[in-house]
Amino acid sequence: MQLVSPNFKDVLTPNIELKKFPDGDSYVRIPKLKECTGEVTLYHRLYPKQDRSLIQTLLILETLRQVNANVTLVAPYLPYARQDKIVLEGEVKSAETICKLLAQSGCKKLVTIDCHFLKKEGEFDYAGLKIRNISMNDKLIAHAKKAFNDEPFEIISPDEGAKYMVAAKGGKSMKKTRGVYEQGDVAYRAISKLEGKFDFRDKNVLIIDDIIATGSTMFKALENVKASGAKSIACAATHGFFLKDSLAKLRTSCNFVFVSNSIPSPVSEVNIMEKLKA
Ligand code: R5P
Repeated sequence: MQLVSPNFKDVLTPNIELKKFPDGDSYVRIPKLKECTGEVTLYHRLYPKQDRSLIQTLLILETLRQVNANVTLVAPYLPYARQDKIVLEGEVKSAETICKLLAQSGCKKLVTIDCHFLKKEGEFDYAGLKIRNISMNDKLIAHAKKAFNDEPFEIISPDEGAKYMVAAKGGKSMKKTRGVYEQGDVAYRAISKLEGKFDFRDKNVLIIDDIIATGSTMFKALENVKASGAKSIACAATHGFFLKDSLAKLRTSCNFVFVSNSIPSPVSEVNIMEKLKA
């Protein structure tokens, strides 16, 4: 049985109801619950509105428990995946918390894409949750080939976390260092260094990362690649949040910007379903 959330309606036909009560509490209903007694694949995006989407997921999983369904959750982007380490005493590894919650709520397996803390494709067990991690790297590279009109191009990742996305294709990685948390109520550590020496004179270059969030990483990588003499530059990522107007800025700073539709955006030019259905 396939269950599809309304937030997947750009690629599949929804058959779950998600609403809000007047006070803002989440409401979920599975009209075909009686048919969900065996294997169930649940397509539900967890971003944007990650906290609400996670609560909806827990409620859907609990509803499916009523019929003992065996649930595989397909969530292309896993929120909180970047909080997998303790930086300061007194913090929590939120990535583990979310995975534990999903497992304890009856999620038998999570299928996700370019999950930040896994850093490679494959099958994993993380905080008690079985995870299948798929990479969009080959599809993003194929898309860049078209963008560069079949001309040769170099591939690079802006940090070592995304090394697995480029290494198999002979790509190199820069090294990123972040500073301390900034003051204020946004938990953010600015990039203090992005190192890497390249000679890209007159070459086409594709920069690939798992995520473009504020765009800071991509902008620093762009500076470096431009300084190395590149002729044409494409910036790509699996997940594009494009916070702080970064999409508009990136569009004017390089030749091509594109991401997958793991999170729908105006530049979601690579379709996740090609990998999810494979
Ligand atoms: C983190 O290391 C990830 O691989 C990305 O580089 C990062 O999340 C991008 O964030 P931002 O766009 O805010 O620099």
